[in-house]
Amino acid sequence: EKERTLGIIKPDGFSGNYTDRIKQMVVEYGFNINREMVIQLDEELAAKFYAEHSSKSFFSSLIKYMTSGPVLVMILEKENAVAHWRDLIGPTDAGKAKLTHPQSIRAMCGVDLEKNCLHGSDSHQSAEREIAFFFKETPSDEAVEKH
Ligand code: CMP
Repeated sequence: EKERTLGIIKPDGFSGNYTDRIKQMVVEYGFNINREMVIQLDEELAAKFYAEHSSKSFFSSLIKYMTSGPVLVMILEKENAVAHWRDLIGPTDAGKAKLTHPQSIRAMCGVDLEKNCLHGSDSHQSAEREIAFFFKETPSDEAVEKH
């Protein structure tokens, strides 16, 4: 059964011209890119998206990073999309990914634990919540982006 997840190419990945290569890997891995949108997050929106991390020591740095340039947000669909996307992007710490998961996307374009180039939803529930955060979907699918 098909599942959806939310993928984000973060500012360093997007400005570093990794988008075409990332999309090629996405398609080769069997994902369908249902929707995509380039958006410049402001502090309010980034803080809302990462609300669960608001008490963490790295929060302000994370918000600065995520608002440092435009991001590409994608709805990705395939069987087991949440788990498969996390497989493809590799470990959160891109520095480690280079050593342990050299074929992963984070190994290609990420830098470290914070500047890890990509986001992937961590569960089916967060995927649907995160998709709804960025995309307004209607039954006719003639949706208008919310932000
Ligand atoms: P992501 O999986 O998108 O969700 C939370 C983000 O916070 C994570 O990617 C990293 O970009 C960042 N992050 C997670 N842990 C740390 C950390 N310990 N120090 C700095 N940034 C972090």
